[in-house]
Amino acid sequence: MIELKYFLMLTLWKVAAALWLCFFNVNTDGFKAIWRAVKLHRHHCQVSLTRRIRIHPTPSSAHASLASNDIDVWNIIKNEYNRQVSGIELIASENFVSNAVMEAVGSCMTNKYSEGLPNARYYGGNQYIDQIEVLCQNRALSLFNLSKLEWGVNVQPYSGSPANFAVYTALLKPGDRIMGLDLPSGGHLTHGYQTSKRKVSATSIFFESKPYKVDPVTGLIDYDQLATLALDFKPKLIIAGASAYPRDWDYARMREICDSVGAYLMADMAHIAGFVATGYAHNPFPHCHVVTTTTHKSLRGPRSGMIFYQLLLGEAINNAVFPALQGGPHNHQIGTFSLY
Ligand SMILES: Cc1ncc(COP(=O)(O)O)c(C=O)c1O
Repeated sequence: MIELKYFLMLTLWKVAAALWLCFFNVNTDGFKAIWRAVKLHRHHCQVSLTRRIRIHPTPSSAHASLASNDIDVWNIIKNEYNRQVSGIELIASENFVSNAVMEAVGSCMTNKYSEGLPNARYYGGNQYIDQIEVLCQNRALSLFNLSKLEWGVNVQPYSGSPANFAVYTALLKPGDRIMGLDLPSGGHLTHGYQTSKRKVSATSIFFESKPYKVDPVTGLIDYDQLATLALDFKPKLIIAGASAYPRDWDYARMREICDSVGAYLMADMAHIAGFVATGYAHNPFPHCHVVTTTTHKSLRGPRSGMIFYQLLLGEAINNAVFPALQGGPHNHQIGTFSLY
């Protein structure tokens, strides 16, 4: 209707302008004024049309591009993209994903709910979700050369921190003891960080944590000190892994220490997973009960997490992820880090 009204008005204006010019011999300033009035009218028509679309979104607006749907968000994303490509990022946790990852993470996989595990969901419509999760599990296991007879993997953790907390929930009781590398020595918050005044991480709120440290002179992990501390503290879980420890790990020695006190050994290889996969870093799998990782650092995937577990621990780990800690998995992420 608005287009028709606009067309009729325009025609009327044009006829009036032509008559005016022919019969009254007005100068061209008058003609310009008429043309400005036409343009103003056209602008008003467009504005009211846009308002109508905003108030009553049509199916076609759901398919519109981000730029035409929300220019404010589009502008901020464009600015962030320009910041990323025109600067140098020196943040160890970050990486740049490929266009394929961007495409898959923004796909229809984001629409689906799928609580449960492949072939054991709580509702329908999961045939392709199951396929992508199984593909993801298979590729994750083969990336680290793991046999399905010994290892399983849960690919549903939303990120590295929830993956770690799921392991604690699965293997420990509230108040049980854990040991991780101290945060000032390069460890991660989720490995139990606390100060004398504050229990900073949820790990230290719900479990009793004692850190081991690097030697202040060499900067290397003092495994002898760890062994002595562990004998005294008797942790139920010891964590190998760090956010800022630029040396490799002696997993065999750590397993020895764990065995001496009856503790589980967990490796959090979030930062070095890419090096483990390619053989440039020691392999934690032959020594650990559980290995966690993020997928967005050296694996260069979308932001997510994984827990690799020895099969005997599978039920406890899977139950800790869902239903204990999480709800529906983020299928757009799972689908995306299945990508080669
Ligand atoms: C060793 C380690 N584990 C876990 C995490 C947590 O990952 P996210 O930030 O994805 O929760 C990090 C984060 O940088 C990390 O360095």
